[in-house]
Amino acid sequence: MIIDTQDDVTQAVLDEMVRTPDPRTKEVLSSLVRHLHAFVREVKLTEKEFQDAIGYLNAIGQKTTPSHNEAMLIAGALGVSNLVCLMNNGEKGKRPTQANNLGPFYREGVPHYEDGASLVISPTPGPALRFKGWVRDLQGKPVAGAEVDVWHSSPVGMYENQDRSQAEMNLRGRFATAADGSFSFRSVKPAGYPVPIDGPAGVLLRAQKRHNFRPAHLHFILYKPGYKTIASQVYDPADPHLETDSQFGVTRALIGDYRRQADGSYSLEFTFVIEPGEARRPRPPITEKVAAA
Ligand SMILES: [Fe+2]
Repeated sequence: MIIDTQDDVTQAVLDEMVRTPDPRTKEVLSSLVRHLHAFVREVKLTEKEFQDAIGYLNAIGQKTTPSHNEAMLIAGALGVSNLVCLMNNGEKGKRPTQANNLGPFYREGVPHYEDGASLVISPTPGPALRFKGWVRDLQGKPVAGAEVDVWHSSPVGMYENQDRSQAEMNLRGRFATAADGSFSFRSVKPAGYPVPIDGPAGVLLRAQKRHNFRPAHLHFILYKPGYKTIASQVYDPADPHLETDSQFGVTRALIGDYRRQADGSYSLEFTFVIEPGEARRPRPPITEKVAAA
């Protein structure tokens, strides 16, 4: 159609999308156009703001490398990651779930370990942690033979991929659950950490006077054919940023119960529930460790 005024633009775009053969693609893209145009109208977007927004989107891509995923960071900072997660898990959002954001630091190719092994490959400071987890189905029955990926930041707040002082794959590993659905590992207690703010995510947080910390957590992926694969995170209840997570990942179902032992080490036990569904590992947001200097 020929556009006469701004009132015609949305319909003109929708009209050109009617031939989209895939129904889901058609639904998603036409809804995106309607909401995007409604947003532009609601905020009365200026030409300068539009140019700034295009520059911002381009900067997200330019900031992204094989060892850093800026788009994932911003999806978290806007609460979209956890919204998508909670809508799609726990019987489609009906009940609490142990599913949580994948986060930007998941890698494939991690070492496979025997039950009880340590994730510590290179010298890593911090109090020792003994973790014991259980994987159960919706009826509470143990899920044996589930593959469990674990990864977390060091107590100085850096993942190995961000930190040349840590060995490749430090604090990362894969375990398999035993007949009783349990798995266990040793590591060091993770600390909260700042997410990177040297790119567009930092621009967003500074504009809103928000801090860039994530409360301390352990990351997991639970994979077993016949069950919906979930990413999970277990949070430290004592962390000062529990209620203001810069990535909005904390849910009540994921606050762990760290027990301090007499020797200063910690123990933590946690049960994950997985539900029937498609077993599919997520695409790793990063593929490499940060390059050597
Ligand atoms: Fe994390």
